Amino acid sequence: MDSELGFHSLRTETKERVSVEGSLPDWLTGSLIRNGPGTFNFPDGNAVDHWFDGLAMLSRFSFIPEDQQILFQNRFLQTDSFKSARKGNFDGGFATGQTTLRARLKTFFSEPYDNTNIIAERIGDSFYALTESPRSVEFDPRTLKMKDHFEYDGEVPTGQLHCAHYKRDPTTGSLIAVDTEFGRTSKYHIYAIDSPQDRSHIASVETEKPAYMHSFGLTPQYVILTEFPLRLNPLRFLKPGTQEAFIQQFDWEPNRGTVIHLVDRTTGTIKASPVLEPIFGFHHVNAYESNNGQTVVFDIETVPDNSSIESLYLENLRAGQLGSLAGKLRRVIIELAPETDSRYGPEAPKTTTEVIYDDGTALPTVSPAQWNQKHRYIYAMSLDEPITEWATAVMKHDIEQDTTVEFAGVCDYFTEPIFVPSPEAEHQDSGVVIVVGLDVETEHSHVLVLDGSSFTLRAHSRLPVALPFDFHGRYFPNVRAQSAWVRSTAVPVSKYSYTAWRHGRGISTGGSRRVPRLCSEIFRFPWWRDALRLKPLAARYFTLFAPSEVEVGCNIARDSSHLKPELKLWFNGW
Ligand SMILES: [Fe+2]
Repeated sequence: MDSELGFHSLRTETKERVSVEGSLPDWLTGSLIRNGPGTFNFPDGNAVDHWFDGLAMLSRFSFIPEDQQILFQNRFLQTDSFKSARKGNFDGGFATGQTTLRARLKTFFSEPYDNTNIIAERIGDSFYALTESPRSVEFDPRTLKMKDHFEYDGEVPTGQLHCAHYKRDPTTGSLIAVDTEFGRTSKYHIYAIDSPQDRSHIASVETEKPAYMHSFGLTPQYVILTEFPLRLNPLRFLKPGTQEAFIQQFDWEPNRGTVIHLVDRTTGTIKASPVLEPIFGFHHVNAYESNNGQTVVFDIETVPDNSSIESLYLENLRAGQLGSLAGKLRRVIIELAPETDSRYGPEAPKTTTEVIYDDGTALPTVSPAQWNQKHRYIYAMSLDEPITEWATAVMKHDIEQDTTVEFAGVCDYFTEPIFVPSPEAEHQDSGVVIVVGLDVETEHSHVLVLDGSSFTLRAHSRLPVALPFDFHGRYFPNVRAQSAWVRSTAVPVSKYSYTAWRHGRGISTGGSRRVPRLCSEIFRFPWWRDALRLKPLAARYFTLFAPSEVEVGCNIARDSSHLKPELKLWFNGW
């Protein structure tokens, strides 16, 4: 098999309802929104070098259990980076292109990089696509259309580099974020976000040479900053001339070890800074406290060194040379000493680490219901160690029992699995796991819904396209396929309209049509307008929205008597 298709450039945008084989649970009514690189090649013949530099594309999977369908949509974010690339002016990102660090940071200051291809996150009532610059992109979750750029302009200290992953505190609902500020004295700034412009400062931690930091850990009391020995000397800002791409400017300095800063969220002080052996990684999986807060436990996915960044160059990925890409799930336990007489100083914490799963993994996740709490299960892409090819399975690891179950099937390759807990979950694994896979032979992606407990296939749908492998997804329970049912009770459908539907003249079961088409259909049947009181509604609707932004669909389904078909209309993006 050949995973090269997972790194192809997608050129189409699609919105389509697809039917489900199997059965969706009736509570699965929200949307999974995934983010990742959608295209790597540009019209002028140029291309990016690294997987992380592909242009941001959102994919949305809205589940409709009552129809056993999934509404699928993919859309490129119309960012400045996207527009520049279309004109042949893409100036590089994470690992592509030759640029000066000064130029890169200058653009961070003046008009920061906006290829926000890593994850989608909800902040307050708004949705944002995020990357490692402080410039995020707001989008409409129902159309995936980019709304505007967002940059914070308040008093809380921020930096030029941004941890792409926020952590949500389930108790307060706040998001916690970490920035790195480069300067004469470089600092990591930790802050809470309650709404886009409402931030509160938690702590700032000074560092001699900032580490590359893609994520961090969070417990009820602590923020866990992990300084891997991939460091950047801020004095490089003064170096003239063109230099290597951004990530290449970081130095691997194993003699520093891996420094863990346990930062107290209440006092803003560092509680402990144990040092581990030199390792590297991107993702903290989850963290929690036990023993009345005296023990801090966190799981992190690590690789031996920074060579995994080399493995992620597209040339290597497409050739199947995956090098050191497979990660190891590692548990770190920090046992804090009890408070002692301050005259003798605090006792050093005892820190231990262990590998909790022997084989390789990528993009590990836990149930959102367990964030900041003790978790029993970890889900991840399953990779052989040593790695021979892209993930051909996804896995569920039970930490308590030290057992692992894998799922493979329907597709050849898989991406990050996302666990969605059921609303009345009895166990930590009561729910489903949603994963997108790629069938190489037919050149189609599938979305698969696995039973969370048995880890067997429950439902799947073939998508109309082959999606490139992406990075991260979030499930949003309140983002529905249909945002507003205009009418959901049964109304009589005339013989004429039923015949029109049968002949595919603009109305379809479970399908949807663009506004102008359906508009003409609606107004061709005046009785509809009267029956549904659509005239004033439609008039207001068309005045407020451009047709391309809104979609109107309708369902006609015959009821059990086969005499009174039911008509439903919905207005997406409304
Ligand atoms: Fe990530």
